[in-house]
Amino acid sequence: MTQVTNTVRFVLDGQIVEAQGKRRTTTVLDYLREQMHRTGTKEGCAEGDCGACVVMVGELNAAGTGVDYVATNACIQLLPSLDGKSVKTVESLKNADGTLHPVQAEMVKCHGSQCGFCTPGIVMSLVNLVQVLPTPNRQQITDALSGNLCRCTGYKPIIESATQACAKPEALKLNDSADVPLLKQIQRASVPTLSLDGDIIVQPVVRTKKGNEFVSPATLTEVADYLVKHPTTTLLAGSTEIGLQVNKQFARPEHIMYLGNVKELRQVTETESLWRIGAAVSLTQVEALMAQAYPDFAEVLRRFGSPPIRSTATLAGNIANGSPIGDSMPCLLALGASLVLRRGDKTRHVLLENFYTGMKKNVLASGEFIEAVELRKPVAGQVFRAHKVSKRFEQDISATCAAISYRLEAGKLKGVKLAYNGLSPFPARAPQLEAVLEGKAPADVQAAELDAVIAASFTARDGLRATWAYRALVARNLVLEFIEEQTKEVA
Ligand SMILES: Cc1cc2nc3c(=O)[nH]c(=O)nc-3n(C[C@H](O)[C@H](O)[C@H](O)COP(=O)(O)OP(=O)(O)OC[C@H]3O[C@@H](n4cnc5c(N)ncnc54)[C@H](O)[C@@H]3O)c2cc1C
Ligand code: FES
Ligand code: FES
Repeated sequence: MTQVTNTVRFVLDGQIVEAQGKRRTTTVLDYLREQMHRTGTKEGCAEGDCGACVVMVGELNAAGTGVDYVATNACIQLLPSLDGKSVKTVESLKNADGTLHPVQAEMVKCHGSQCGFCTPGIVMSLVNLVQVLPTPNRQQITDALSGNLCRCTGYKPIIESATQACAKPEALKLNDSADVPLLKQIQRASVPTLSLDGDIIVQPVVRTKKGNEFVSPATLTEVADYLVKHPTTTLLAGSTEIGLQVNKQFARPEHIMYLGNVKELRQVTETESLWRIGAAVSLTQVEALMAQAYPDFAEVLRRFGSPPIRSTATLAGNIANGSPIGDSMPCLLALGASLVLRRGDKTRHVLLENFYTGMKKNVLASGEFIEAVELRKPVAGQVFRAHKVSKRFEQDISATCAAISYRLEAGKLKGVKLAYNGLSPFPARAPQLEAVLEGKAPADVQAAELDAVIAASFTARDGLRATWAYRALVARNLVLEFIEEQTKEVA
């Protein structure tokens, strides 16, 4: 374990790369293209939407014997967050004898490429998929490609290439044996460094001449301590918001603290009744966690951005960002989720429904951050439904997403919690609508009554994504849809 400051160290195809003197906001894409001349990785949108920049980012697996990869949008990831990790670009796929990876070879055979601009990103998304799923079905292939836009070829031959490549599953796995010892060599210390006075010292990965820092601590104690000492620090989790602020609004935060290496924040722990989801747990992991317990929540997450977005984006980042159309929040609100907020060594619990105080405003105090999200497990008789309405099925932002939780007791709706995004300045529960539903038999719920309460509950505002009239109609129809199955059963 070594501490190296002002140098970002990562592994690229069996070699340690030492990036020195880089800005804390240099993107992975710019570094790969401009410094490493890996120009196979393209820039299309620079905002995580098109997939032309997809690379694979790997970390040592838990046993330290291999590398776990995720597909990532290099355009919105900051270079210092690569410290201690490995990267594979499309150039990494070529074998020493010049032969191509089966996915590439089949792209050629199946005519999966025309202008070729999207091709490296598509190949990397597919190669990433087959590392964990050597025999994916069509749905898994199309899911994996949902963040890759191709304007000229069309997806049929691309999907065909993936299917054909998987006919030879033994040749799909990347050989990362040379990377494993190097990854071990560049790991940073996993315990805090202390000064002679016992003060915690967080060694910066990047420190500029002006004294601005990019830090990447390994422990919760360091995060809490650093944030109290530097309360204006920008927290960086999955970078799917921050990366856009850097690229599109030219944001240059003074201090940036990356949470992706903090072991406590990467854990999901559970009791009999709840999960505690650490602030650095990715949406991909949350999606898997929800699959059995709350399948509609998992489906909302499956339609959240794309696989490369979900592989880094976090639940805590979605909540902290507080977008009025944030997708996880309606589900979490309907499920009564609460947040563990930490400042220094003190924590407090705040219900998510009490977290927001206005558009993108919340109750976080100076130096305080979200440590975890606590979510109750389903109880007997609980019904949970959620649905996201957007113009496109995949990789699109909500017009409205709604979620509801209730029980049916003696044919009546009980314990109703209903929440929306897109209808108010922040995702919120709809108490007046809940009151209309509470205690009523599903078949007695009238559309006109819901319409009247929706009109009285929210301020009518047309938005870029949808008119108010459309949103209000969707809000009402989703409630009817959510209780329709009960109407059928009771009838
Ligand atoms: C292409 C694309 C598609 C997207 N699709 C969707 C979508 O379908 N639905 C949707 O809701 N959103 C979507 N988003 C938005 C974004 O992905 C989500 O908001 C995501 O959950 C943000 O999480 P992150 O970990 O990437 O946050 P980051 O970008 O790392 O941080 C976001 C904000 O949260 C703060 N923050 C992060 N962690 C903490 C913490 N622990 N405590 C306090 N503050 C913290 C950061 O300082 C920052 O202000 C999309 C974004 C992109 C680029
Ligand atoms: S360049 Fe479009 S997703 Fe990165
Ligand atoms: S081959 Fe041209 S964009 Fe896909």
